Amino acid sequence: MKEEIARETRFWNVRLRSMHAYQPGEQPKFSPQTLKLNTNENPYPPSPKAIRAMRQAIGADLRLYPPADWQSLRQAIGEEYDVSPAQVFCGNGSDEVLSLIFRSFMNEGDLLVLAYPTYSLYPVLAEANGCRTAWVDTREDFSIDPDAMLAEARTGEARMAIIANPNAPTGMLLDKKQIREFAERFNGLVVVDEAYIDFAGEGASCFSELGALDNLIILRTFSKSFSLCGIRVGYAFAAPILVEGLMAMKDSYNIDRAAQIGAEAAIRDIAWMRKNAARICKTRAKFTQALCARGFETLPSAGNFVFTRHPKISAAELQSRLQQEEIYVRHFEARRVSEYLRISIGTDKDMTRLTGALDRALNGSAPEHSRGRA
Ligand SMILES: Cc1ncc(COP(=O)(O)O)c(C=O)c1O
Repeated sequence: MKEEIARETRFWNVRLRSMHAYQPGEQPKFSPQTLKLNTNENPYPPSPKAIRAMRQAIGADLRLYPPADWQSLRQAIGEEYDVSPAQVFCGNGSDEVLSLIFRSFMNEGDLLVLAYPTYSLYPVLAEANGCRTAWVDTREDFSIDPDAMLAEARTGEARMAIIANPNAPTGMLLDKKQIREFAERFNGLVVVDEAYIDFAGEGASCFSELGALDNLIILRTFSKSFSLCGIRVGYAFAAPILVEGLMAMKDSYNIDRAAQIGAEAAIRDIAWMRKNAARICKTRAKFTQALCARGFETLPSAGNFVFTRHPKISAAELQSRLQQEEIYVRHFEARRVSEYLRISIGTDKDMTRLTGALDRALNGSAPEHSRGRA
């Protein structure tokens, strides 16, 4: 058996052979009962204007390559956020933008500083690019400690730091003033991943610091607040010279034609996104209260998910109980986080169903689907 594996992987390079691949959340087979709260998708549909625009884009024009520099989308993002298109980079999901950041700005052996816990793709990309990582534990309450990160970065002469804000999987938000101070005092690049920022309230983004900091890259995505995971479009704000570097590294046509058109229509209809984000924040507050009433300990979340644990029942057991009712939530088997579940916020109705299932799990009563069976 061993020999067989060795033969199978003989064409893999050394880095790949020792790499730990990213583990995406489960994509279950859907039935009418499936409630999927494990990958922070948005329960509301994307803007009807975006859907209409994409439908119209599916036609004879597909024989043509899409615009290589996504000029029209870039223009729309620039207009919405009042920045020059030269400060906007777009990618096939923010995951691709992250990957390009590593390939463009990190050399083999360079050091990346990151908080623990955080989005688990970062160390995978570091490994894939031959970079070293310095993990800095979040405080006891899971808040990010920028001073500790700075000390680590300076000691190791790190080339880059990544801060997810709000952080994943905790949902904890770091004040933008602290990010600015961190970036001012750190010589390397500071990537702030704002995938969930639209759920964090007005003024939470460190976007306002962009002009003053030439080492800041702010990462955004259409996946979460715009309900467009399926088209894979992410974007970044950064100084023009950084954008120029990313442009040189990317594939020629990295975003397909329909996705560019859909994302542009979505950003031009930003009120739709804001309305849905506000609904999700309301549901998050209600659900957090419901959890609290049942004895759960939940971190304060600024994302479209909560990170929660119960002192009387393990997260792994709860996850498996919920799955018996076709409710999917995320559990990470790792230090400090294995007692927690990360639960995406759905509609009010979704969360009421989940609360019922949690009650059954806590009371030790039978899962809903098996009731009445012998
Ligand atoms: C912190 C964080 N950044 C980035 C992403 C990836 O987003 P995208 O769908 O734009 O690749 C995720 C996805 O879950 C995330 O949690």
